[in-house]
Amino acid sequence: METVVSGIRPTGNLHLGNYFGAVRNFIKMQHDANCYFFVADYHSLTTHPHPDNLNATVKQVLAENLACGLDPEICTLYVQSDLPETAELYLLLNMLAYTGELERSVSFKEKIRKDPDNVNAGLLTYPVLMAADILIHKAAKVPVGKDQEQHLEYTRNYVNRFNYLYGVEYFQEPFAYNFGGQLVKVPGLDGSGKMGKSEAEGNAIFLIDEPEVIKKKVMRAVTDSGPTHMNQPKEVAIENLFTLLKLVSTTETVAHFETLYNNCTIRYGDMKKQLADDINIFIAPIREKIKAIAADEKYINKVVKMGAEKARQSGRKTLAEVRNIIGIRSFF
Ligand code: TRP
Repeated sequence: METVVSGIRPTGNLHLGNYFGAVRNFIKMQHDANCYFFVADYHSLTTHPHPDNLNATVKQVLAENLACGLDPEICTLYVQSDLPETAELYLLLNMLAYTGELERSVSFKEKIRKDPDNVNAGLLTYPVLMAADILIHKAAKVPVGKDQEQHLEYTRNYVNRFNYLYGVEYFQEPFAYNFGGQLVKVPGLDGSGKMGKSEAEGNAIFLIDEPEVIKKKVMRAVTDSGPTHMNQPKEVAIENLFTLLKLVSTTETVAHFETLYNNCTIRYGDMKKQLADDINIFIAPIREKIKAIAADEKYINKVVKMGAEKARQSGRKTLAEVRNIIGIRSFF
């Protein structure tokens, strides 16, 4: 079975866009590959989260992903900092990472543009840490979006430099795990792009949103003044509402509102009410599961411990071999 590694950013709560995007594919993938999923808490330090919040954030991320269906008995689910071997591999890989190359990284340039007062070396070497995450388990595939392709390319560079420098065929080049057509793009509620892309208040429906919150967000979604002639093409904002409806409602409901739109008798208020109800029906079981898991300290602890043990088994082996190849040999 192929080994797959992916990091989960401990920033913010999961929304419907995450669910129909990466998360649902992780759930499927765990049955088809030897999967390592981890909460990337080391990475999150580049933006200096408050020490009082870090642990709770990591726990919430774990609870949400478990509630969606990540099965810690099937995959390896761990916290990045519970595998400190990653940090040592990161140090070793830094010697193969060229600063010029790192400075040319698209995401680095984007980050310094957004936050010019916090250009720390951790930010610059973010791709090296990501390479360490991947190589510590010698993964073949990494399920990442387009924005992470360049990081994967850097990982392949380090693989080739390592193998060349030490004259070995030790690491293999990892490639993106392609979900193909299975990635569903969920639009946001503000009438523009993808859910979660814009920070606009109310743009995303989170899996933890209560019914009243869902209703408020959906009722505020952008619409137009309504169709004025039969079979009028839909504005983007309206198309987005229909896309959401298709994800959570029955085909009858979708067909019903399509008909009303096409004969110009649609009342967006009615459609939004239905959409809010159906989103809630879809989310409710996940939301309740998130709450139950987050409240079950013992269960979370068990999951994290089991994950750490499985991850260390793989990580320690790799690191020992890498140290040996490099020539780091203990004197005692
Ligand atoms: N950089 C990834 C993101 O922003 C998260 C991540 C960290 C990751 N390490 C990784 C993804 C290793 C895949 C493999 O989403």
